[in-house]
Amino acid sequence: MGESITITDNRTGESIEIPIVDGGIDAGAWSSLLPGIWFDDPSFSATSGASSSITYLDGGAGLLRYRGYPIEQLAGTAGFMEVAYLVVFGELPTRDQLDAWCDEIAEAAPIHENFHKRILEGFRDDAHAMGVLIAGIAAMSTFWPDGKDVEDTTCRRTQMVRLIAKMPTLAASAYRRSVGTPYVQPDHGLDYTGNFLSMMFGQREGGYEVDPVLRDALDLLFVLHADHEQNCSTTAARIVGSSHADPYVTLASAAAALYGPRHGGANEAVVRMLEGISSYDQVDDFITGVKAGDHKLMGFGHRVYKNYDPRARILKDVAHKVFAVTGTNPLLDMALKLEEVALADDYFISRSLYPNVDFYSGLIYQSMGFPIEMFTVLFAIGRTPGWLAHWDELMAQGSRIARPRQVYTGHAQRDVPSIDQR
Ligand code: CMC
Repeated sequence: MGESITITDNRTGESIEIPIVDGGIDAGAWSSLLPGIWFDDPSFSATSGASSSITYLDGGAGLLRYRGYPIEQLAGTAGFMEVAYLVVFGELPTRDQLDAWCDEIAEAAPIHENFHKRILEGFRDDAHAMGVLIAGIAAMSTFWPDGKDVEDTTCRRTQMVRLIAKMPTLAASAYRRSVGTPYVQPDHGLDYTGNFLSMMFGQREGGYEVDPVLRDALDLLFVLHADHEQNCSTTAARIVGSSHADPYVTLASAAAALYGPRHGGANEAVVRMLEGISSYDQVDDFITGVKAGDHKLMGFGHRVYKNYDPRARILKDVAHKVFAVTGTNPLLDMALKLEEVALADDYFISRSLYPNVDFYSGLIYQSMGFPIEMFTVLFAIGRTPGWLAHWDELMAQGSRIARPRQVYTGHAQRDVPSIDQR
């Protein structure tokens, strides 16, 4: 046997030797020695929920790779459609493959008129765009019931194309409904990200000029969000997908997990936090409040990164390029000062708390003209290939349904008293 660990049950003196394979140990072997005794790890801090070949993340070293390629190289050379192809299919596309992929995605981008009329227009005008997106993705399940054949590889591919293609259309429609302007249909002549900007900010009659700097910056933001291994939303997708639910409701569950302010909702929370601090002079007081446990420093900290998030480093550069076109976001100085104060403070140093991807992304989105409620929606568009790649990988692995155990802490058996005796 190669590397292994030995576990001894001190009650009986029995031992079991378990091999260490790819950095993990098989919990099944543990169960054979200790039936009925479970690892107690509700947040999965020390538990692997998947064997995956999609994304490599070393949080201590601050490394992130999609299918082996460092994020820094992809961010400089590959567009979002190439990265989506890479994440989903495992290899970068050739030029012909990329052209065919972009065509396939563009053809699947429109959303049925009934979807706009019957689903999207049913929401209140002030409905949060993430609520609309989550419900909209789930509603797609009723429009494409053919997606339920989840064990069929060809069927899965069709649904993955649909979801990647329709996510920006749905997102832009959610926005246009909220501001009461007519929906803009996808323009096949534009690239994925340019088309999304046109559906967001263009006119029905056309003529929208996509700013190449803003398009490239948004495309890069999508690349940076494309996958992040077993985060909360991907884990939600894997758990729901393991029941063989269709990919639409599976992705709706992932988007729901993303909505929370500890996860993708942090980009919105960061900007609300910066707006709440209101003046540069209050930064020190705000940090004192964080240290006293009054509030969190949103956009800081990560379960896995105990070093600078490599995506945040790239985003800082993107921010400057975008601000050169849009003018500086007035909240940037506040964010830089917060970062400077936090990175020099023992509270943050001792807990290895660094800026994460959400610290600067919201400022960029805001400068590009996206309303704050759209920030997490943008994250969802970028993350869609990652969610789908994990779902497809799970289906191909033929895994069992996710069904964790629990450590029961409730009453022992007791008798039901009559209502007068309670
Ligand atoms: N501000 C202040 N203190 C913090 C923060 C923060 N942002 N994050 C963690 N801590 C403290 C935490 O209170 C704990 O202190 P102590 O040891 O004294 O109890 C210590 O650092 C360890 O934190 P933890 O709660 O064990 O960390 P976690 O791995 O459970 O949570 C997190 C990770 C991302 C939910 C958390 O850091 C957080 O809430 N950050 C703010 C929200 C945020 O920016 N989320 C985006 C994450 S990156 C993008 C994504 O995945 O969506």
